[in-house]
Amino acid sequence: RRNLTVLGIETSCDDTGIAIVRRENDNNKVLANVMNSQQSFHIRYGGIIPPRAQDLHRSKIAEVYERCLVEANIKPEEIDAIAVTTRPGLPLSLMVGLRFARHIARTYNKPMVPVHHMKAHALQACMEHTIPYPFLCLLISGGHSQLCFIKGPEEFLLLGETLDDAPGEAFDKIARRLRLYINPEYRNWNGGQIVEQAAKLASNPEAFEFPLPLARMRDCNFSFAGIKNNSFRAIKRQERIEACPPDSVITNYADFCAGLLNAISRHLMNRTQRAMEFCIERGLFSGNCRSLVVSGGVANNDTIFNDISHLAEQYDCKTYRPSKKYCSDNGVMIAWNAIEQIMNDKQCLTYDYYKIDVQG
Ligand code: KG4
Ligand code: ZN
Repeated sequence: RRNLTVLGIETSCDDTGIAIVRRENDNNKVLANVMNSQQSFHIRYGGIIPPRAQDLHRSKIAEVYERCLVEANIKPEEIDAIAVTTRPGLPLSLMVGLRFARHIARTYNKPMVPVHHMKAHALQACMEHTIPYPFLCLLISGGHSQLCFIKGPEEFLLLGETLDDAPGEAFDKIARRLRLYINPEYRNWNGGQIVEQAAKLASNPEAFEFPLPLARMRDCNFSFAGIKNNSFRAIKRQERIEACPPDSVITNYADFCAGLLNAISRHLMNRTQRAMEFCIERGLFSGNCRSLVVSGGVANNDTIFNDISHLAEQYDCKTYRPSKKYCSDNGVMIAWNAIEQIMNDKQCLTYDYYKIDVQG
């Protein structure tokens, strides 16, 4: 179909995101993108409490939907399909999006398109850039870290994934341990953003060094738990040296953040290099056309993105990422993934056949 308007619903974690994307004569346009972030709530409790996240999704989803229709200046009847994240994610949170999607689909007699959250992150860059398949994808977020080779919208070859934590999770936990959230400037920011900004203030970026994780492993897997634990130990040592009172921040936190960012970036580069060499050796790229997509919330980080781009350049590989507002969780990537599925003739489901059944 040449023209399609799809509403996308994302509630897999702590963001209630709804967006409307229209594809018209091969052009993609975001008509509306509305988000309600629960970040400021969960920060107070040191992490996401699933039943509270569910309550917050429930209390906000109708309002987010209404705002979305107003922003797009569209009636529900004009929407062709309802797309919704069905996995992976927090089951209680996913359930809210799914129930809401089914409610709209039933009310307006629209088909539903189930969307895989990670596939949506991975393919989001294709909405704004023409990226020929196949391509390599580095997917880095608060819940995942993966390297996959993408042969087509439905053909993903997983090359490696994290053995423990995700990089965004490491940023979030370490920023919290550093108590940087007490800085009013950083309030309501996520850990990755805080570390990125604080690192810019470093006067001695080499003051804190971390060993490269999995340095001797020849595979493409990741590990961030070592960096996290080393960070906790280094912060404790520094607090003792400075005799820090409780609830205060170490004086050289900016140097620490620069060291941490460098360690995470080096690990991501090292693993991406492994994957790149593997794909080239096996002749997986088509001809000389090599592309790498960096996606997920951590792809927002300019230091990481630039480091990965420079690495890729050495292999004659062009690097892409979605616009910053679409790197993190959002409804646009869900709607866009559904458009790709429909363009590829994947069957939509009618709400009658769509069971409320989520996988975490
Ligand atoms: O993709 P996303 O919105 O949600 C998940 O699917 O997990 O990613 C959220 C993660 C958070 O852990 C956050 O710390 C990280 O993305 N993040 C960043 C930056 N912005 C967000 N990490 C590093 N640098 C950033 N600028
Ligand atoms: Zn995500």
